[in-house]
Amino acid sequence: MTTIVKKMDEAPIRTLVIDDDDAVLTAFRMALKRENHQVATASSGVEALALAHEQEFDIAILDLKMPGMDGLEVLRRLKGIAPSTSVIILTGHGTLDGAVQAMKDGAYDFIQKPVNPVDLIDLIRRAADERRLIATARQITGTPLQRPSLRQIVGVSNGIRRVISLIARAGPMDSPVLIEGESGTGKELVARALHAASSRRDRRFLVADCSAIPETDVPEKLFGVVRGEDKTPGLVEAANGGSLLIDEIACLNNAMQVAILRMLEDRQILRVGSATPIPVDLRVLATISLDAGEAVRGGRLREDLFYRLGVFTVSIPPLRERAEDIPLLAGHKLGLLAQRYGSSKPDLSDEAQAILKDYSWPGNVRELENVVERAFALDDDGVIGADDLTLRVLAEEPKFELAELEADYSSAKQTVLHEFHKHFIRRALEANDGNVARTAEQIGLGRTVLHRLMKRYGIQSDRGG
Ligand SMILES: Nc1ncnc2c1ncn2[C@@H]1O[C@H](COP(=O)(O)OP(=O)(O)OP(=O)(O)O)[C@@H](O)[C@H]1O
Ligand SMILES: [Mg+2]
Repeated sequence: MTTIVKKMDEAPIRTLVIDDDDAVLTAFRMALKRENHQVATASSGVEALALAHEQEFDIAILDLKMPGMDGLEVLRRLKGIAPSTSVIILTGHGTLDGAVQAMKDGAYDFIQKPVNPVDLIDLIRRAADERRLIATARQITGTPLQRPSLRQIVGVSNGIRRVISLIARAGPMDSPVLIEGESGTGKELVARALHAASSRRDRRFLVADCSAIPETDVPEKLFGVVRGEDKTPGLVEAANGGSLLIDEIACLNNAMQVAILRMLEDRQILRVGSATPIPVDLRVLATISLDAGEAVRGGRLREDLFYRLGVFTVSIPPLRERAEDIPLLAGHKLGLLAQRYGSSKPDLSDEAQAILKDYSWPGNVRELENVVERAFALDDDGVIGADDLTLRVLAEEPKFELAELEADYSSAKQTVLHEFHKHFIRRALEANDGNVARTAEQIGLGRTVLHRLMKRYGIQSDRGG
């Protein structure tokens, strides 16, 4: 179970203005500062390139006509140093030739002098939004701007049908949704489907991974911060208009849970260090990998927040409770892999299906995907057989995720016991060449007990004995 760490800040736009005219630099600096940009200025190409070596800029505004190094040359070198900086070209009247060439050389857009500040700020915003949207989408999904929908949720079990019908009903509503399910059950997938089913679908979907952000940083990551002149918006403002997924809400401390509740009720937030409320308009989705009721009883989730969030609660059952979905999910993943690698989709032998259905899947769908992916890589005859799987399932290293261990006593214990059995028994079997009778004797367990444990933890002996 790899933890995908999602980190997104919407920091101020970092802009570099390059112009030989001091009056232009001063005017731009003032206008951009008013818009919360971080502004640096350079009065020559050489100075600009030196700055670009030292720090990263989102946007560069570049005067094409400067003494010394010519603007087009500066552009080419700048693109060499900082390929992801969006360059906006300033041109005088009647010098469109240079601008056209600049666009060919990778400039984002151009604007003619004398510049109307409103137009310039608009243009910068567009360039910055585009950059961030692409960067954010990549961080979240690994694939830019991919939009999952209901159709991507695979399964025929009653549990999954209930999930799908709830998404269809809750999606278009603007109320919060609490999504409950063990690790790897598809909580984020469900959250994305809810967003895709809402009227906010064309706006952003951002994820605040509360288990990955250090507790002391959470308030400013979510609500932003004001320090003197510097104002940094948080994820809530970045998601404004769209949806924010608060991932692992029970990881938030009590004060933050109160703050989220307040945001839901007042539809406004306070940045850290500021007393000026900022109105926000966003859909809040939250996940919890414990049983939510249990989390309330255990004091990890405030009851008032639970009621406010849980207007709709989507519970995704663990995979072991919906074995009929397993072959479908495995087939779906094989289809995706075949598509990605341009090969034909291998079949899943009956025996392999039976093994997969029998295993307990502590890592749920994510673990299944990993096993299938490895089997796909191992397979050389177009049929995934038992031998493509068994080894992989058995060869897994023990994994204890701190987040899980901290959850609550009984689920932590279950995780550890599960891993212990899997690995202890596997090693004992290996030491006895897969002979169950001998293994049982060696480790001091009855043979039927060992068989039962092997079955429960999805362990095959390679002798079948
Ligand atoms: N019903 C499903 N149909 C298709 N794919 C699924 C389904 N459920 C889960 N997946 C896939 O399984 C993987 C894990 O899903 P996801 O990240 O949404 O789980 P999660 O509950 O958020 O996990 P975690 O608790 O570890 O954050 C993803 O690749 C997702 O696409
Ligand atoms: Mg998740």
